[in-house]
Amino acid sequence: MYICICNDVTDRQIREAVDQGARTMRDLNRELEVASQCGKCACAAKQVLRAHQQNDDGCCGLR
Ligand code: FES
Repeated sequence: MYICICNDVTDRQIREAVDQGARTMRDLNRELEVASQCGKCACAAKQVLRAHQQNDDGCCGLR
């Protein structure tokens, strides 16, 4: 699903960025340019970021 229409960024790309070390919106902005134009995607992008981080926390690798 597209999260950032301005930059064609999907939720999958955000999750992959988190898997590769992105921890903040600034990281996502630097790596994917999320929220770098109109900014309307910032809230949704942050939700994907936080949800994926929470899934990683304490996980034994079995999902
Ligand atoms: S939708 Fe992401 S910057 Fe516009």
